[in-house]
Amino acid sequence: MKKQNLTLTIDTTKATGKVSPLHYGLMTEEINYSYDGGLYAELIRNRAFLDDAKNPVHWSSVGGATLALDTALPVNNVLTTSLRVEATAAGAGAANDGYWGFPITPNTNDKASFFARGSVGALTLTLQSRDGKTIYAQTRVSAVGEGWKKVTATLKTGNVAPTTDAIFTITAEKPGTLWLSLVSLFPPTWNNRPNGFRRDLMQLLVDLKPGFLRFPGGNYLEGNTIATRFDWKKTIGPLETRPGHPCPWGYRSSDGMGLLEFLLWCEDMDAEPVLGVYAGYSLRGEFVKPGPDLEPYVQEALEEIEYITGSTSTKWGAQRAKDGHPKPFKLQYVEVGNEDFFDRSGSYDGRFAQFYDAIKAKYPNLKVVSTVGNEQPASKRVKSRKPDALDEHYYRKAADFIRDSPTHFDRYDRKGPEIFVGEWAAHEEIAPWLPPSRNLPATPSMKAALGDAAFMTAMERHADFVTMQCYAPLFVNINPGGRQWRPDLIGYDALRSYGAPSYYALKLFSTSVGDELLKVSLAGAPLLASVTRQSKTGKLFVKYVNPGETPQAVTLQLAGAKSVKPEATVTTLAAPPDETNSMENPSKVISKTTKIGNIKPEFSYTFPPYSITLITLETR
Ligand code: AHR
Repeated sequence: MKKQNLTLTIDTTKATGKVSPLHYGLMTEEINYSYDGGLYAELIRNRAFLDDAKNPVHWSSVGGATLALDTALPVNNVLTTSLRVEATAAGAGAANDGYWGFPITPNTNDKASFFARGSVGALTLTLQSRDGKTIYAQTRVSAVGEGWKKVTATLKTGNVAPTTDAIFTITAEKPGTLWLSLVSLFPPTWNNRPNGFRRDLMQLLVDLKPGFLRFPGGNYLEGNTIATRFDWKKTIGPLETRPGHPCPWGYRSSDGMGLLEFLLWCEDMDAEPVLGVYAGYSLRGEFVKPGPDLEPYVQEALEEIEYITGSTSTKWGAQRAKDGHPKPFKLQYVEVGNEDFFDRSGSYDGRFAQFYDAIKAKYPNLKVVSTVGNEQPASKRVKSRKPDALDEHYYRKAADFIRDSPTHFDRYDRKGPEIFVGEWAAHEEIAPWLPPSRNLPATPSMKAALGDAAFMTAMERHADFVTMQCYAPLFVNINPGGRQWRPDLIGYDALRSYGAPSYYALKLFSTSVGDELLKVSLAGAPLLASVTRQSKTGKLFVKYVNPGETPQAVTLQLAGAKSVKPEATVTTLAAPPDETNSMENPSKVISKTTKIGNIKPEFSYTFPPYSITLITLETR
């Protein structure tokens, strides 16, 4: 193969723009069992017996008991259904199969709670293997009586080997009838938050240093119908007052992960919320006409903003305090809807305008984001108002990102609106919405990561007006039936988790970024590089993608640099395109960091085949 002479020139004389401090963030919604069976640490599946109207799905009989759903004498008007357990013998009861098992880890305290009534004597709670031969943890609680009683208990494992081969059982001391409702079991959570988040998944997220979190969707915000939208008021307060709702990805959401939990999640990551408000359009085509019909939804959004940002002297700020968080949260961006270019009614311009005017009137400092970007036909875009930002979504083949990234944002108006790339991900060949994609692993290979990295260089080179960007979807439960969409960034089962090569590509970009943009050009090949500088220290972060099968020898010219520290740090993520990570081999494709010497204002470096590289230089 012909050797190419490539020169990467970095103009260090002046910054061409400021890097948005929120450039790197995360996007989330309930998809692929992201919360229930994912980040939300609840272990009991169908805890409120509302997942199926006819059968107590995910519950089974223990010791010959008869199980049935019962709507007589509910706990309250939200927990409308309970599980009736007819125990014909001592030791009979009910078992839950969890989200594809339970995480059993040594010396762990899991906290159980449930509502119960009946006359079966003391109750025994057990975490045991599916075949019943191994007891991992067990405890006994006193008998309950006629009326509903909330029971709490702790299950402590001993020095057991980690496994997901487990079920959770509640069994009776003597024959009789037992009713159960809102059965819950939590392992230790991140920051020990009650009703909190899985620790391993939080660690993976915190390691990315995200600036913001876009929530609650995505399609999850819109719902299939207006009635099944993300109706935030039904997601706050004690769990027994949250009814849950069907999510558009084919299963029911418990709403244990409600509005406040999203905000606490942001707080735990030191990230800002970017709030999507329901804007009167749902996926199956229902929409609300702008004007008086839309007004209740506009009010709902204003109240939601008040819940997040209002002082405790406001109605919804006081509610937030009552829910446990007196301090208001920071909020700068509100997005009106999601992918409203799918709305064929032509109502988005009017709906957007009504939300925009109401939000700006009450919260003039908030930036209002339109969900229709430049990559959509002009006829779909908002014209009656100037949105502060446009949300653009890119699900593309890796090869297409590689082809397009050298110039993609060059035609954009740097003066605005800002661009928010609110969803993006490279796939290897098969688009996420095509049925054959179901046969592929949930998380993508290095081939996709190369496309992702190419696109990140484009976004980062324009990080003054591409103010925010986030990969989607973030999570996938890799068990059969757990996935509705691929590729996804982070895979997990009940016990373990891992990042795709794309996760490590994102980490390489998001954790090493300056506050200034430097002009970078590449002679001899299309530009798949970006350079930022930390103004305080003069540190340069050079990111370079070589998507090809041959090494690329590049001369790096630091134009205008008076001096450069002779030693630099190089972080490389390199692997053949088909290589990937998996639960069995979670670290096959991860980045490696080394030191290189002899760095001068002009130096050479050879980028390996199929590689994503960060060179950190210190200039003066
Ligand atoms: O990320 C998966 C889905 O893709 C999102 O819910 C939706 O906004 C987009 O079409």
